[in-house]
Amino acid sequence: MNNLLNKKILLIICGGISAYKSLELIRSFKKKGAQIKTILTNSAKQFVTPLSVTSLSQEKVYDDLFSLENESKMDHISLSRWSDVILVAPATANTIAKLSSGSSDDLASTVMLASDKNIFLAPAMNVRMWEHRSTKENITKLKNYGFSLIGPEVGDMACGEFGEGKMSEPEKIIEKIEDYFVSLSKNKKFKALVTAGPTREYIDPVRFITNKSSGKQGYELAKSLSKKGFQTTLISGPTNLEVEKNINFIEVETADQMFKETQKNLPADVAIFSAAVADFKVQKQQTEKIKKEDYLNLGLEKNIDILNYISNHNSLRPKLVIGFAAETIDLENNSKKKLIDKNCDWIIANDVSNKSIGFNSDFNEVTIFYKNKNMKEEKLSLKRKSEISDEIVDRVLDQLN
Ligand SMILES: Cc1cc2nc3c(=O)[nH]c(=O)nc-3n(C[C@H](O)[C@H](O)[C@H](O)COP(=O)(O)O)c2cc1C
Repeated sequence: MNNLLNKKILLIICGGISAYKSLELIRSFKKKGAQIKTILTNSAKQFVTPLSVTSLSQEKVYDDLFSLENESKMDHISLSRWSDVILVAPATANTIAKLSSGSSDDLASTVMLASDKNIFLAPAMNVRMWEHRSTKENITKLKNYGFSLIGPEVGDMACGEFGEGKMSEPEKIIEKIEDYFVSLSKNKKFKALVTAGPTREYIDPVRFITNKSSGKQGYELAKSLSKKGFQTTLISGPTNLEVEKNINFIEVETADQMFKETQKNLPADVAIFSAAVADFKVQKQQTEKIKKEDYLNLGLEKNIDILNYISNHNSLRPKLVIGFAAETIDLENNSKKKLIDKNCDWIIANDVSNKSIGFNSDFNEVTIFYKNKNMKEEKLSLKRKSEISDEIVDRVLDQLN
């Protein structure tokens, strides 16, 4: 089966001696039916000509961040949106350093900074450049940001030295990109549901009970699931976060609405309940704005416990039910208790007593408690919520497969 047919590949060629291999890459991708657009860095043009690249790709070559003609269509954004995947081959030490620091001073680095696609790097450089501590640290950072590496290989280099730093051969690069598309289509059979954000429990038309949840961790989880090929539904309380277009997004306000939508969108293979659902709602929501004195008579009643309901429901229960716990004290015991009480498979616990992580932060540190592994716990140390999400989704895939 041809896994690359009609796939859209944005190939970024940097200024390294192995740029000549990119021509072979373009030829092979085209032969397999992929569509290729290319960006050449300024240095790349010293190694391969735009004319040979355009002849092989049968597309125009992009190279200028400030091109009046191209930017009328916002190429620095649209090229990434167009692509299914971005491949940088060869990836130079310089471009790797720029990516790891978020620098964006040319079209290639700007497109990648503005991208939410999977980016594969095929590094190629002299062995000393590859082994330099700064390159090593940059690579570690990029892996944490979710970049995937292909190679480099050990062998004789163009500079006459021997060691690690050779760009992988085009066949190997193509095989890795094909593998990626195969796993994406395999994971398409999986359905995922994520709840996120706070809920609002209305007192009257203008006032409500809510909490500090920003929804960031849940949105990142939905993004990671969708990136890995899952058919993903995100049911969210009010936030001001953006949602990717591949995600089936359902916006709700109250716990009751979230419960209704959750039921409607099950069964699924995995459900991750990261929403901070208000425990209580007002017994009798007023249709008119209430007066000060009436506050004293606000009767509360318990909201439905969505996680508990779903994980104990025979026909709705997903194969894998994951709950979140935000704890300020005794994280371990409270999480283990929740794991049992709510009959879920994993609890992902945050210690929200630490103000710099958790609620509203882009960073998090979590501990996963696994019921199906004898309550074993696993800590995912402090990192971006996007990276935490990728790691959680890798574990979800291991479990489902
Ligand atoms: C002949 C020659 C070969 C080079 N080969 C490499 C290489 O294989 N890998 C690399 O990282 N840099 C290599 N460089 C250095 C890069 O071209 C240089 O760092 C440049 O700034 C990279 O720009 P770019 O990352 O925007 O493409 C080479 C330079 C020259 C002059």
